[in-house]
Formats: sequence, structure tokens, C-alpha cells
Amino acid sequence: MSELNKIALKIISNGKGILAADESNGTMTKRLEAVKVNSTPENRLAFRETLFSSESMKDCIGGVILFDETINQDSSSGKSIPNLISDSGAVPGIKVDTGAKDLANSTEEKITEGLDGLRERLKKYYDLGARFAKWRGVYSITEKYPSQLAISSNAHSLARYSALVQESGMVPIVEPEVLMDGNHSADVCLSKTSVVIKKCFEELILHKIDLSGIILKPNMILNGNLSKNKISNEEISLKTLECLKNSVPKEVPGIAFLSGGQSEVEACENLNLINKNNDTNFIMTYSYGRALQQSALKVWSKNIKDTKATQNTFNHRAKMCSLAAQGKWSRELENK
Ligand code: G3H
Repeated sequence: MSELNKIALKIISNGKGILAADESNGTMTKRLEAVKVNSTPENRLAFRETLFSSESMKDCIGGVILFDETINQDSSSGKSIPNLISDSGAVPGIKVDTGAKDLANSTEEKITEGLDGLRERLKKYYDLGARFAKWRGVYSITEKYPSQLAISSNAHSLARYSALVQESGMVPIVEPEVLMDGNHSADVCLSKTSVVIKKCFEELILHKIDLSGIILKPNMILNGNLSKNKISNEEISLKTLECLKNSVPKEVPGIAFLSGGQSEVEACENLNLINKNNDTNFIMTYSYGRALQQSALKVWSKNIKDTKATQNTFNHRAKMCSLAAQGKWSRELENK
């Protein structure tokens, strides 16, 4: 078993998943302003530290993705944030892309940037304690998109990023996110997501990536958020499994889904059914941002000093996600 494979398994095994707390300062400012809290470095740290010191970190969270600001901050006890996370048993990770920019010659689409100077930045993050990294490619669905240009160029960047991350001794999270925006059907999402993921693996293989030392972070297969068609959670789980079976090489140890705008409960219900119906060898778990933090952020914003109330809410969400990652979640447990 390679070192990278061991790290990947530590992050996603035994009902554990990933807390994606890597919102850029711009995104975090939107989230904080939505609950009427000033977006200062101190407040961003206070909310995140409250989550990272929660009881559920031990049993439910195998890895935390940080933003550059947070990985460089110290907790109130003086411990660095990456040390606070690793002392709880979870693996600290870092978002290393620098965001999605307009793709030249197809400017309605995006290309993710951040390769320049990446080797040096990775060394710094490794020294700070990071053992995995994240890069998100983003694709939209319309009749003509994603274009071949967006599919190829984002896959190429994801592969070059993955090669540098593995070279630095860390596990790359490979995140090709096909957005849910639009009125397309789940079948369209299925066929377009399959093409996107297949191309990513074609490039990863070309770049000699050790596939046993990565984690794939895809979207689930859903109807577009403007679609009038209804689809059951059972169908979502079956279509998601169909997509991954036809596009992911068997060497990949695990798949950690993004929540991508699903509600907290939907994200658990769908993950639970994916696990109940899972007839693959892939571990299927979560790498949720909003679906782990939304309720906790609301509670925290009411009284940022009430650590206990925020942690209780976060612990419940983390527990529900962990049960879903084992196919043991239910609505009854959700409402307990
Ligand atoms: O890159 C996306 C985030 O890490 C996951 O966020 O679960 O809110 O979509 P989300």
C-alpha cells in the first residue's frame, strides 16, 4: 500500500468524510454577511475554530480542507489550526487552486487557475502540516456546454495539479464539478458528467498519476435546479452510481461527493441511498461545505460566544453525514 493510498484511506474510511471549510475570503464574506456577521479574519477564524474543536471531529471527519488564510492562523489556545485538526485525528488539507476565470475563446465557460508557482506553494503547505490538497474545475450544462475546450483544458489542469501534489507527498482531491444550474434533465447531467470525468481520468493517466492515491470529488447526478421534472432520491442514487461505474477506474479508493447546493437533508438522503445501492468497491462519502456548515453557521451567528450550541448543531450534521456514508441514515434519526 503506498503512503498516498494510506492517507486517502485515513480520510475516507469508517464512515468518515471531509469538511470543506475552504471558502475563499470572497465566498466566506457572502456567507457571513447573509447571517449579518462582519467578515473579519477574527470572525472567520472564530467560526471555523468552533467547528474544528467539535466532538464529531474525532469520529466523523477524516479531513478538513482549509483556505490559505486559515492554514496560517493559530487557534485561541495558541495551537496552529493544522495542529488542532491533526490532534483531533483528522488530516489537514488545503485548497490550492486560485479560482475559476473566463476561458479564453469560450468566455461563457471557466478554466481554473493556480498552476504557476504551485510546486513552491505545496512545499510551504506540507511544512504547515497539510497532507492533501484540493482543486476544483467547474463546468456548466447548456445545449452546447460544456465544450470540448472546457472539458479538455480543465482535465489537463487537474492532471498537472495532481502530479505536483503527489510529487510533494500529498493526496490530490480531483474535483470536476458539473453545476446543477439550468433546466436540464438528470439524464443529460449523467451523460455530460460521464464525459467530463472520463476525460479527467484520461489526462490523469497520461500524467502518470497514482490513481490509488487520489480522491475523486464529483457532483451527484441531479436534475437541473430549474427543471420542472421530479426525480426520486432512489433514481438519483442509481444514476450517480451508473455514472461513476462507467467513468472511474477501479484503482481509485474513494469518492467524496460535493453537496453543490443540495439542502443538508437531501445531501444525506442521497448519499445514504448511494451507499445502500453501492455495488462497487469504491468508498462513497462526503466532502461537504454548505451541507455540513449551513445550520451551524445560523446558530453561531445568533450568539458567536455560544460555542456549545454551534457545536451541538455541527455534531448532529456530521453524525448524519457519517451515517449516510455507511448507508445507516434515516429520517427518524435526522429528526431525533
Ligand atoms: O469545492 C466545493 C466545496 O469544497 C464543497 O462545497 O458542498 O457547498 O458544494 P459544497
